[in-house]
Amino acid sequence: TLQLTLALIKPDIVAHPHILNNVTRMILENGFYVIESKRLILTTSQAEQFYAEHKGKFFQNRLVSFMSSGPLWTYILCGDNAISRWRKLMGPTKVLKTVYDEPLSIRGLYGLTDTRNCTHGSDSEENAEREIQFFFPEFNIKKWYETE
Ligand code: CMP
Repeated sequence: TLQLTLALIKPDIVAHPHILNNVTRMILENGFYVIESKRLILTTSQAEQFYAEHKGKFFQNRLVSFMSSGPLWTYILCGDNAISRWRKLMGPTKVLKTVYDEPLSIRGLYGLTDTRNCTHGSDSEENAEREIQFFFPEFNIKKWYETE
């Protein structure tokens, strides 16, 4: 099934032109289409709001400060089973697991730590909708699915 998902390219990757090119190439070569994109910088309160489910976790502060430390690329990606395929291409969150299980994933190749892990992807249809609306409030997701 054709799906939309939200992808974030995190600040460390955006800061490095060669790695940003490689990650972008991996997205396109894996059959994803970029429906919308924006380059932006989150405030700390926007980062807190986006990651509200991680409020109070031990890594919340470092996550919020990292995610607001520089520009992000935000994409609405479209593709067959885009949610799970994008997460597969990213690889697992934790860097040690990634290098063992998915060494050729984006995080396997370029992840630095459990926080500085290159990219983000929605984990369910419900969260994809919420996260797309967070970054693209003007995008009419319901209409897109109806007219697809
Ligand atoms: P992401 O897929 O964007 O979703 C939540 C983020 O929190 C995750 O990627 C990491 O950047 C960060 N994160 C998750 N687990 C940990 C952890 N154990 N230690 C540090 N950061 C984490």
